[in-house]
Amino acid sequence: MFGARCLLRALRSCTSAPCPRHKPSARLSVRDALGARSTNGERVKVQGWIRSVRSQKEVLFLHINDGSSLESLQVVADSSFDSRELAFGSSVEVQGQLVKSPSKKQNVELKAEKIEIVGNCDAKAFPLKYKERHPLEYLRQYPHLRCRTNALGSILRIRSEATAAIHSFFKPSSKIKVPEENFFNVPAFLTVSGQLHLEVMSGAFTQVFTFGPTFRAENSQSRRHLAEFYMVEAEISFVESLQDLMQVMEGLFKTATMMVLSNCTEDVELCHKFIAPGQKDRLEHMLKNNFLIISYTEAVEILKKASQNFTFTPEWGVDLHTEHEKYLVKHCGNIPVFVINYPLALKPFYMRDNEDGPQHTVAAVDLLVPGVGELFGGSLREERYHFLEQRLARSGLTEAYQWYLDLRRFGSVPHGGFGMGFERYLQCILGIDNIKDVIPFPRFTHSCVL
Ligand code: 4AD
Ligand code: MG
Repeated sequence: MFGARCLLRALRSCTSAPCPRHKPSARLSVRDALGARSTNGERVKVQGWIRSVRSQKEVLFLHINDGSSLESLQVVADSSFDSRELAFGSSVEVQGQLVKSPSKKQNVELKAEKIEIVGNCDAKAFPLKYKERHPLEYLRQYPHLRCRTNALGSILRIRSEATAAIHSFFKPSSKIKVPEENFFNVPAFLTVSGQLHLEVMSGAFTQVFTFGPTFRAENSQSRRHLAEFYMVEAEISFVESLQDLMQVMEGLFKTATMMVLSNCTEDVELCHKFIAPGQKDRLEHMLKNNFLIISYTEAVEILKKASQNFTFTPEWGVDLHTEHEKYLVKHCGNIPVFVINYPLALKPFYMRDNEDGPQHTVAAVDLLVPGVGELFGGSLREERYHFLEQRLARSGLTEAYQWYLDLRRFGSVPHGGFGMGFERYLQCILGIDNIKDVIPFPRFTHSCVL
């Protein structure tokens, strides 16, 4: 951390030092160096890790990557610089001139004048091997090193861009972000969802969202479950129909994805080319079609008519399993499909009663997507005091949820919201099979390595 004392020292040394004769080299990220417009001999300094070394008779070629882009920067050096320490994985600082490259492979290259090894890398012991494309399963064993590979580098840059895209989706219409709480004086639990707090906020701000870590003691080793995952949640006041909610959900998915596609083109291309061939077309298909809507009752009818034999027999009143979700998405032509109006008995107390019958349902909605299954879960909330009071009493929760009932006593409004699993979203757009590969440090049952 930069302390005040450290800053003062730095300022003092700046002001009292004699003026250097040459302008010190400007530090550039690899991305900025690659994108440099003018290459008329400007002196620059680039820091990063060596991705490749090629030694010829009179010249030495290095490729340096610092995580700012998929592409590495080519460094061209005199062979006198050659040394054993200039090896794959070592960290270096290179100073020199940024010049136009004679090769068609890149626009610019760095003509090295000084190369400093910052940290050696023991190539023999290093689990990442030069020029090898390691499978994602192999890399999962090295959560502390895998971010140095092209694949994880791309996925994590996309993750970062998708985070920004989601924030910017909610920002323009003055939606308020609710911060997560940090510490307490009373017994506290890790949150499974920020929804109830968002509902509090939606009593003053008409559109709110939150985006943060969520925890579930999910006893599942599946490729779409984590014990700690990130969830984007939104709550909207004065919303009277699921239709309005679904519009926001579809808008969030499509807008964020378009932003990621246009701002991370190369990284997305890497995933679509090497990790999930065919995903580009599948994603385009999702983006250009309107998402479909079916009711839970229709979904069960479709499943019952299916020629496929399911492990869990589909039946009205029973939850949909992954195998059912997969079938439904396929049946819908691999277009994301909203399933709405689930049995009341299956859903939590806060979902709005549809007052229908004899098959009693609530205004719940799930969005099922190809490859992943459930991506969003949401509902209209029960805003009517007496309905909610009865549901709470039936679950023996009346006392604990007095504050929640208060929201219905004092200026209640029809409202609804949803949550989207952020890792599942990344899996869906990139075609990544296992959720453990789209989060820096996956934590799941029996595993909390870092
Ligand atoms: O459907 P869920 O449980 O919905 C809620 O928690 C609501 N309270 C949200 C709301 O209305 N504000 O979870 C929402 C989404 C799921 O659709 C799924 O994408 C993701 O969160 N999710 C998980 N992702 C990874 N690992 C897990 N264990 C997950 N559990 C849920
Ligand atoms: Mg759900």
